Amino acid sequence: MSDNGLFLTLEGIDGAGKSSHLDALEALFKAQGRTVVRTREPGGTPLAETLRGLILKKPMDPLTESLLVFAARRDHIVQVIEPALARGDVVLCDRFTDATFAYQGAGRGFDNTVLSTLEQWVQAQAGSAKLLQPQVTLWFDLAPEIAAQRLAGARVPDKFEAQPVEFFRRVAQGYADRASADARRFVRIDASQTREQVWQQIESELAARGVLAGGGDR
Ligand code: TMP
Repeated sequence: MSDNGLFLTLEGIDGAGKSSHLDALEALFKAQGRTVVRTREPGGTPLAETLRGLILKKPMDPLTESLLVFAARRDHIVQVIEPALARGDVVLCDRFTDATFAYQGAGRGFDNTVLSTLEQWVQAQAGSAKLLQPQVTLWFDLAPEIAAQRLAGARVPDKFEAQPVEFFRRVAQGYADRASADARRFVRIDASQTREQVWQQIESELAARGVLAGGGDR
């Protein structure tokens, strides 16, 4: 795998505003001469997008949901993420495995040990003892009550967006736990700020971590 590939993920509860910064992030890396692969989970391949439709719409038990999420992830990794990183591209991925620990683990109360086992199977890398993980995760942290207000009336809610605020309190705690367990990878973004302030924070955190260095003339 190329040393220059960058795997960057965006995470947070529904309504935290992460996806609205994808255009600017893509432009930022492209301005540095990087090739950007912009993708999302669940999804990112035809098969994974088909599974996304089921995951977001059909009621199912938490193990079934976790298996489908990881099946979609496996296809996405093999078809899109690993080849892009091997080429040295920037992979901008809207959600990844942290969302599984936050939504299925903390939100649904599903067994984290099973999720860790699935993570090891799905994110194993040929010829390496290390699992495939993002280098940087932008975690958009927002109080669930504010996120719910932002989402209200915005669009027809999917299965997760329709959950009560109590579910999102657990999901938010799940993200906080993941962040404290891997503080080097996680960048906490204060998503209660204005959109412009959020963007300024993103830019300065990425610059501070050196992921913008060496690309072009910013
Ligand atoms: P999105 O609306 O940000 O694209 O995310 C789709 C929904 O899927 C969101 O409510 C979170 C949920 N989700 C999970 O429950 N588990 C996962 O592993 C992923 C990636 C997303």
